[in-house]
Amino acid sequence: MNFTANKLLLFGATGDLSQRMLLPSLCALHSEGLLPENMQIICTARTEYTDQEFRDFARDALARFLPKGRDLKIEPFLECLTYQDLDASTPEGFDTLAKKVGPIGKGDKEGLSIFLSTAPFLFEPTIKGLTANGLATGNVRIGLEKPLGTDLGTSQEINDAVASAFPEDRIFRIDHYLGKETVQNLLALRFANIMFEPLWNAAHIDHVQITVAETVGLESRAGYYDGSGALRDMVQNHMLQLLALVAMEPPTSFDATAIRDEKVKILRALRPAVAGETVTGQYRAGAIKGEAVPGYDQELGKDSDTETFVAIKTHVDNWRWKGVPFYLRTGKRLPIRMTEIVVQFRCIPYSIFEGRGAKTVPNQLVIGIQPRENIRLSLMSKVPGLDREGIRLRATPLDIAMPDAFAGPQRRIAYERLLLDLVEGDQTLFVRRDEVEAQWEWIDGIRASWTENDTRPKTYTAGSWGPTSAIGLTERDGVTWHEG
Ligand code: BG6
Repeated sequence: MNFTANKLLLFGATGDLSQRMLLPSLCALHSEGLLPENMQIICTARTEYTDQEFRDFARDALARFLPKGRDLKIEPFLECLTYQDLDASTPEGFDTLAKKVGPIGKGDKEGLSIFLSTAPFLFEPTIKGLTANGLATGNVRIGLEKPLGTDLGTSQEINDAVASAFPEDRIFRIDHYLGKETVQNLLALRFANIMFEPLWNAAHIDHVQITVAETVGLESRAGYYDGSGALRDMVQNHMLQLLALVAMEPPTSFDATAIRDEKVKILRALRPAVAGETVTGQYRAGAIKGEAVPGYDQELGKDSDTETFVAIKTHVDNWRWKGVPFYLRTGKRLPIRMTEIVVQFRCIPYSIFEGRGAKTVPNQLVIGIQPRENIRLSLMSKVPGLDREGIRLRATPLDIAMPDAFAGPQRRIAYERLLLDLVEGDQTLFVRRDEVEAQWEWIDGIRASWTENDTRPKTYTAGSWGPTSAIGLTERDGVTWHEG
């Protein structure tokens, strides 16, 4: 039976993610009356705080990170928060935490949702501590924040540990990209319109590009990021989820099982990428929007071979996508922040305009995920005129800017949607175990090929679009990266 949780137990409550995203999202949901009326949020982390001290900490975080321009009430939200310090690496303290949580309750309006926003090495001892203290039975579900492992093996260990205490339908693996409206809109674009689906295949699509460009560097995450790199930090999760949503077959219904069944088929059909079809890079000092920024090594304070940029050419080996390259690219310290998907259609089979001197350009669909939230379809149009010297055609955009089209509905943080789904028990926007493992299997193959070929990242200047070989990766196929 599904239930709406009236208690939320948040591990890692003093961490960066909690301050920037989780507390603001919960505050917004609470302020708008979307959480159960009697909601209790029990926060835990290692720092010793009283309830009051933690509320002060949370107030401070909210002052910094609550979205501007929304009339959100902080004080009533703070009243729902309690705090218990805990070192989750040891069994001690979980009994006190269980007392703080109190009875879990029954029925469809009571229960506990747990959210682990901690380092993954703490997942296993946390699960043990929860199980030993009655916090894993009854109306309980658990949400897990990435990274879920560093390769297939470690991800399986984590998944096994969680599965020893929770059935899969109570496990909510977060990929915050799935909480973004524009990502969810991919399903609407594809499956709520008649016009794209007949063309959505190798007969009509030449290639697909997915770019996730960031201007930020290491931020304050050196320890994690240097052990991870762009491939595992961004491609393993967010980019493969985007790819799966673009490439999947139509699911039979809008439901967690049907959608995830289709995504996993795509993830399993990904062709193992070989070293020659991947490019890695690491930024050196440069400038972004006119401002000087240090190189990765300088930010890190030591030499490192970690890639901060990766570009990959891959294929989905199935009937629909036979022969269609999917180019993926992500990096830190690129010139702009931009996530977009480009679907490049093929040329028309025959042009009646060529004899009149006019060239046609193949149609292109650009789906802006962020910061521009738009859908832009370029169509050939006739340039107005008497055409005495021949017909002129030009690619003209049909551009839907989502914020204009939907000026009314509130723009939300991705975590608002995901935390609400965690409280209410809807798994549609969470990643199933078989998906995560298929993602890791493909990523492990790439990493193995890098080791085999002793691939080291090439340097690129901060503020550029990555190493020049990333351009070569597409240009040898006659394709140019779309640059915003
Ligand atoms: C996180 C990565 O998952 O996603 C970060 O760990 C990255 O390195 C972030 O900066 C990007 O998220 P968004 O929502 O800003 O695109």
